[in-house]
Amino acid sequence: MTIAVTAASGQLGAEIVRKLTAMPNGGTVIGLARTPQNAPELGIEIRGGDYNQPQQLRASLAGTDTVLLVSGMDTPDARIQQHRNVIDAAKSVGVRKIVYTSIHGVEKGTAFSAVVQSNRQTEQDVRDSGLDYVIGRNGIYIEPDIEYLEGYKARGEIANSAGSGKCGYTTRSELAEAYARLLTTDQYDGRTVNLYGTPITQAQLAQYLNATFGTSLTYREMTSDAFIADRSADLGDFIGPIIGGIYEGIRLGIYEKESDFEAVMGRPHQSWDAYFSTLKN
Ligand SMILES: NC(=O)c1ccc[n+]([C@@H]2O[C@H](COP(=O)([O-])OP(=O)(O)OC[C@H]3O[C@@H](n4cnc5c(N)ncnc54)[C@H](OP(=O)(O)O)[C@@H]3O)[C@@H](O)[C@H]2O)c1
Repeated sequence: MTIAVTAASGQLGAEIVRKLTAMPNGGTVIGLARTPQNAPELGIEIRGGDYNQPQQLRASLAGTDTVLLVSGMDTPDARIQQHRNVIDAAKSVGVRKIVYTSIHGVEKGTAFSAVVQSNRQTEQDVRDSGLDYVIGRNGIYIEPDIEYLEGYKARGEIANSAGSGKCGYTTRSELAEAYARLLTTDQYDGRTVNLYGTPITQAQLAQYLNATFGTSLTYREMTSDAFIADRSADLGDFIGPIIGGIYEGIRLGIYEKESDFEAVMGRPHQSWDAYFSTLKN
């Protein structure tokens, strides 16, 4: 079996490759990358994989049985066609199964909803493709909160619009293990699975950061509009509202749904105690 992993130059794609190549039944793994030189050393063949280049995608997917499609980072409208290019290329070269990394989120009414809708459209395109498929709806990565620690320290607080909503965070490593499993078994074919760990509040996140890094962060709730303005000032008018919309979704409880991670993996998602203990010096 030959498995192609797209966006192998990205953090999630690369981690999925690492998990697959570590598995005894991981088959032959190839990576696709828009920018092959960005890919870390993975010990596998890397082929061209620009979602905007249908011909290149067909050539690169030739001879593969299963494709892992990592959702792109472009504007919502552009993403839909880019993902279709991958699905169509997979169909045209006889791929049997496609696994898509989608996202959890509120489908209407938040500044993140257009991105969620574009992921839902790709989910539908995958279901309509006629290929075997699995769709994973990822929780929110927790790593950016660790990477942003200096920013939190400078402010002395975590301030956002999540309020007391709980967020089903996850890690790229845990997601990658789940995707490696979904790619190499047929047990979840035809299913859409939620992938994240035990939901926690922002106040709990602050406690974990404090206990791990010796900080004294507190949590303060902001209005959604104020938080979007705050993030847009730092990150610009595309990413700022997206981040604001994600936290609005946390406040609304969308990330507190039942996770399928344990069913998929046959073990619970890594606990937050265990995750944060790995970050202690
Ligand atoms: N769950 C979450 O909290 C969360 C957070 C952020 C993003 N996401 C989603 O999860 C995906 C994977 O996350 P990540 O951590 O791996 O992100 P990442 O490290 O930023 O990697 C993004 C990857 O997407 C590739 N890409 C972007 N546009 C492309 C195109 N037109 N054609 C082919 N490849 C393209 C990039 O390729 P280059 O090397 O050429 O740039 C890169 O490999 C993201 O793309 C995004 O859709 C989820």
